[in-house]
Amino acid sequence: MTLKKLVAGNWKMNGLSSDLTEIRVIAEASRSYGQVDVALCVPAILIERASRAAPGFPIGGQDVHQFEKGAHTGCVSAQMLLDAGATLTIVGHSERREAQHETDEDVKAKAQAALGCGLSVILCVGESMKVRERGNAVTTVVEQLRRSLPVDHGEQAELAVAYEPIWAIGTGKVPTTREIAEMHDALRKLLIEAYEYAGERVRILYGGSVKPSNAEEIFRVANVDGALVGGASLKAADFMPIVAAAAAVS
Ligand code: 13P
Repeated sequence: MTLKKLVAGNWKMNGLSSDLTEIRVIAEASRSYGQVDVALCVPAILIERASRAAPGFPIGGQDVHQFEKGAHTGCVSAQMLLDAGATLTIVGHSERREAQHETDEDVKAKAQAALGCGLSVILCVGESMKVRERGNAVTTVVEQLRRSLPVDHGEQAELAVAYEPIWAIGTGKVPTTREIAEMHDALRKLLIEAYEYAGERVRILYGGSVKPSNAEEIFRVANVDGALVGGASLKAADFMPIVAAAAAVS
């Protein structure tokens, strides 16, 4: 099944009021690529201003709390993201799994909370270099996704999975297209096992050092339904060629 590609930017801890112009430029330029879904996941505090700056353009969060409300200092609920104008959120990014010690169970609960509120979700998985070198990358990541997947919620189209090898994030290193194909194929099989035919509709994104120079080659790999882009999503000049590459293979 060919799915509409999704190219999402993850701004991580970058973005001030002065960057709203860049968001507007990206939103405006994305209109020329109707065959691709484009989104930007920005710091929580910027969501409301970003959504106002680019009406109708999908703005997302980078994390969400699993509970609706309560005594969770510093956390943001799914309802709060929606209220601020977000339409999607990332969950389970490796930077949070590592630094905030998020477990697969936490990630699953966060994904469920977000989907339950009507947010689309990009659920991240990926292996360390140590695991890759041991030859266990596929089994490890499949198991990680199995434990992180939200229960069948009937809205699988609103779920995307991002395969982001930790060693490829921000390093300029990228797996071979063969390694990406092998991983995405295994993740697709798991999604079909978990959700039956609806598992075919879950987009599987690749993330980790995606650049204008390598995007098209990556998008041509089977079961690569888009990209989650970090550093190269901060400027329209870098991000839009990646969106154009997705359009070129669509
Ligand atoms: P880079 O594109 O900067 O490698 O980051 C990838 C990433 O972590 C996106 O979530």
